[in-house]
Amino acid sequence: MTTNNERQSAAVAVIAVPLPAQGHLNQMLQLSSLISSHGVPVYYAGSALHNRQARSRINALNPQEVARINFHDFPIPPFLSPPPNPNSTNKFPTQLAPATEATLSLRGPFAAYLEQMAHKFTRVVVIHDPLMSYVVQDVAEIPNAESYRFVCISAFSHISFICGALGLPFPVPHPKELPPYEGWTSETAPKFFAIQAKPSEIRSGNIFNTSRLIEGPYMEVIEREELKKGRPSWAIGPILPTSSRSNDSHECLEWLDKQEEKSVIYVSFGTTVSLSDKEINELAHGLERSRVKFLWVLRDADKGDVFDGDVRRAELPEGFGENGMVVREWAPQPQILGHPSIGGFMTHCGWNSCVESVTAGVPMAAWPMHSDQPRNAALVADILKTGIVVREWKDRFELVKASRIENVVRRLMASEEGKEMRKTAEELSAAVRRATDLGGASRIELDSFIAHITR
Ligand SMILES: *[C@@H]1O[C@H](CO)[C@@H](O)[C@H](O)[C@H]1NC(C)=O
Ligand SMILES: *[C@@H]1O[C@H](CO)[C@@H](O)[C@H](O)[C@H]1NC(C)=O
Ligand SMILES: *[C@@H]1O[C@H](CO)[C@@H](O)[C@H](O)[C@H]1NC(C)=O
Repeated sequence: MTTNNERQSAAVAVIAVPLPAQGHLNQMLQLSSLISSHGVPVYYAGSALHNRQARSRINALNPQEVARINFHDFPIPPFLSPPPNPNSTNKFPTQLAPATEATLSLRGPFAAYLEQMAHKFTRVVVIHDPLMSYVVQDVAEIPNAESYRFVCISAFSHISFICGALGLPFPVPHPKELPPYEGWTSETAPKFFAIQAKPSEIRSGNIFNTSRLIEGPYMEVIEREELKKGRPSWAIGPILPTSSRSNDSHECLEWLDKQEEKSVIYVSFGTTVSLSDKEINELAHGLERSRVKFLWVLRDADKGDVFDGDVRRAELPEGFGENGMVVREWAPQPQILGHPSIGGFMTHCGWNSCVESVTAGVPMAAWPMHSDQPRNAALVADILKTGIVVREWKDRFELVKASRIENVVRRLMASEEGKEMRKTAEELSAAVRRATDLGGASRIELDSFIAHITR
């Protein structure tokens, strides 16, 4: 079938195009690593700055796997990198807007790069963040190129956004009222989202980082709609790097080694949320009063340029911290969640954090802040039954008081209700792990995607 050896070895190449925000960069890097481990060359294409960011925070990924990925650096015009505003009641990361909007200038450079790649390879497969649809739209002009959208939010949130925007009812019965479709974004971001809508229609299919075990009914709805347009969908998640492959050591892991099994609550709000001094104060007092041991990663949200120093270091109440550990730097979250001493996770409910918690069998105290997070929290608390909501979305303008935090932490870590949730979480974890092991359902879908692009 092949005409010469060179063609044979270079038949198909993947270009991965992430959105430059940590959660998105990381998922795309992990997907790249998975695809490249199947022998398909992967080119991870972004600005030099954001490629560097992705590489510097590889978490539990195997460095040898990352070394196999080819990084292609695009020039990007200088953009502002303002600090986040911790005092805003709207927690949407507007400080990242200049960096994400700067990506719009990549359309031309991407098209030129694609053309070059299309000469080298028999087929070029572009896998892109939904919010990079505008940039990759010239795929449509290249006969031997095709594109797939890599959706890195939950299928549940994905549907909920579409229905919310169109004013349609949610198509799958939900036990409780869904969080109101408001307040999840900034004033300007919807314009950036809207720019992506039409170009996104050229895609040949969708990849979801979820498992049908977690989100079967929602995947079915999406699949049905997408197939009407001839676009298949694959649910390949959550294929996590196995922690046994990584020997990272971190001060906080050593501290966890000394704690009792399932006795520690892990507290982290991801890379896009900054808490105000008042919020931090209430949280500190709530944790203290609960008398539950904690590991709290207290960092300010990322700026558009994470290497541009000068980051706020939030103050903690005097004398605070005896009953736990506060980490100020980048922390190895998957290893933390996988540690036997962790018994709960207070989280903003970013999809990465939810999936990592589910996979580790850790129940959540769900404190959604923006974007898809209120919907993820509803999925976790109402459907999966592996979490308690700290603060309902409708109450997002109110300060969460120490007494509330104390109450939730106790319920999660030291009550029958919490025990029940932990059991549910552990059962779900076992099932998800079976699905993502070799021969499991998610692996089969990944293999099927690889077979499809190398057909
Ligand atoms: C936030 O509010 C505190 C007072 O509560 C103030 O000291 C600080 O300067 C404010 N920060 C910003 C970025 O506005
Ligand atoms: C991790 O450390 C253990 C024990 O030191 C060793 O046997 C194992 O090969 C190491 N794994 C990796 C991926 O380096
Ligand atoms: C799916 O999500 C999990 C949780 O964030 C992440 O660790 C994993 O790398 C993702 N998988 C892929 C293929 O992106």
